[in-house]
Amino acid sequence: MRIAMIGAGYVGLVSGACFAEFGVDVTVMDVDPDRIEGLHAGRMPIYEPGLDKLVAENVKDGRLTFTTDLATAVKGADAVFLAVGTPTRRGDGHADLSYVYAAAEQVAKAADGPLVLVTKSTVPVGTGREVQAICRRVRPDLPISVASNPEFLREGSAIGDFMRPDRVVIGVDDDHATTVLRRLYRPLYLIETPVLAVSIESAELIKYAANAFLATKITFINEIADLCEKVGADVHDVARGMGLDGRIGRKFLHPGPGYGGSCFPKDTLALARTAQDAGSPVRLVEATIEVNEARKARMAQRILAALGPAHAGKRVAVLGVTFKPETDDMRDAPSLVILPALVAAGVEVTAFDPQPAHARQSLPAAVRFAETAISAVQGADALVVLTEWNEFRALPPDRLKAAMKGDIILDLRNVWDPAAMRAAGFTYSSIGRP
Ligand code: NAI
Repeated sequence: MRIAMIGAGYVGLVSGACFAEFGVDVTVMDVDPDRIEGLHAGRMPIYEPGLDKLVAENVKDGRLTFTTDLATAVKGADAVFLAVGTPTRRGDGHADLSYVYAAAEQVAKAADGPLVLVTKSTVPVGTGREVQAICRRVRPDLPISVASNPEFLREGSAIGDFMRPDRVVIGVDDDHATTVLRRLYRPLYLIETPVLAVSIESAELIKYAANAFLATKITFINEIADLCEKVGADVHDVARGMGLDGRIGRKFLHPGPGYGGSCFPKDTLALARTAQDAGSPVRLVEATIEVNEARKARMAQRILAALGPAHAGKRVAVLGVTFKPETDDMRDAPSLVILPALVAAGVEVTAFDPQPAHARQSLPAAVRFAETAISAVQGADALVVLTEWNEFRALPPDRLKAAMKGDIILDLRNVWDPAAMRAAGFTYSSIGRP
C-alpha cells in the first residue's frame, strides 16, 4: 500500500510515521519548506516523545519520505490523508476549513488515478460532502472515494495512542474506501481494536461529540473542585468515589486551571456553532465553553489575591506553560490567559518549561524564561504550577524553600502533597483540596 499524508503537523507526522511502521509506503507532504527541509535533516518540527526515533527508523528503511511537492506525494497513492489544521475561524467561532478545501482541491488536481481521499483533520459535519463536491467538480474524469477517519491521538502519548487506539472510526460511502482503510489498519486487528465503519456524517460528529464530552467532564470536576474548597471536601476523594462507578469512569476527573490545547477549545466552539446553525443548540457544551473561559481568567485573579493588594512589582515563578506535559504545544494554553493578566497587573513573571520552543513567541515579552525550575523560583515571592510535568513532582520542597524569597505556592495541578508542602513551611494552596 502507498499513501500520502498532507500536513506534517502533530497529527500528520505522527500518523504518517506510524503507518510507515505498519509497513505502508508513506510520503508526508507539507507546504512549509522549513518543516520538510528540517525533516530531511532529521529535525522534528514538533516535540513528541519517541517521534524522532520512529521517523529515523522508517526513513532508513525507505518506507517514509517527505516532500513539498504535492504531485510527488499523490502519485500512485492508494489513499491520500488530509491532516491540515482546522483552527477557529476569526469572527464567528466556526472551524476554518480553508486549509482542508484548498488541500482537497490540490489533491484532486494532482491525482493520477483513482484514490481514496480521507479527511483525518477534525472537520464539522458536512465537510466530507463538500470535499466530494470539490472532487467531482475538479476531476469529473476520476473516481475519487471520499472518507472520514477522525484522529483521537493525544499529544504527549501520540505514538502509543495511534498504535493502540481504543477504536478506529471510519466514515465511508462505498466499499472501495472501506476496503482500503481496513487494509491500512489491519495491524490493529491483531490487538482486536474495534474498527467502526459508519456514515461520513456520523464519523465527523463522533470526533466532536467525544471531545465535547471530555471537555465537559473536565469542566464538571473543576466546578466540583471549587465546591470542595468551600465545603471542606477533597476533590480527589470525590473523583475517585465517582470514577469507580463504571458508568462514569476514572479518567478526565483531575481538576486544574481549565482545559486548553489545540483541540478542546476550538472543537467545543465549532460544535456549538454547527449545532446552532442546525437549529439544535448544544447548551451544555455552550455552558462548558463559558465556564472554562471564565475559569482561566479567575485563576489569574486567584494568583493576584494570593500575592496581596500590593502585588505590583512582586515576583512570580511559573512552572510549566505548555497546555499539558510532554508537548511543546502552546495553542490555547491556560498560560496564554493567566500570564498576560499577571504582567498587566505589574507582576514580574519568570517561567520555566521543559519544552519552551513555542512558548517565548506566544507569551508577553515581559515574561522572562529560566533554564531550570530552580533558577525560575530563585528570589520569587510566589510559585505557581500551571502544567504538571513529571520533573516538578520530584523537586525537593526544601530546595524550593531555600531558593524562594516568599512562601506562597499555588499548585493549580495538584502535583504536591499539601501536608508535605505545609511541613516545609509553605503557604500552600491547590485545587479542590482542604
Ligand atoms: P498542525 O498545525 O500541527 O499541522 C498542520 C500542518 O498542515 C502544518 O504543518 C501546515 O503547514 C500544513 N498544511 C496546511 N495547509 C497545507 C496544504 N494545503 N498542503 C500541505 N500542508 C498543509 O495541526 P495538527 O495539530 O496536526 O492538527 C491537524 C488536524 O488534526 C486538525 O484538524 C486538528 O483538529 C486534528 N487533530 C489534532 C490533534 C492534536 O492533538 N494536535 C488530535 C486529533 C485531531
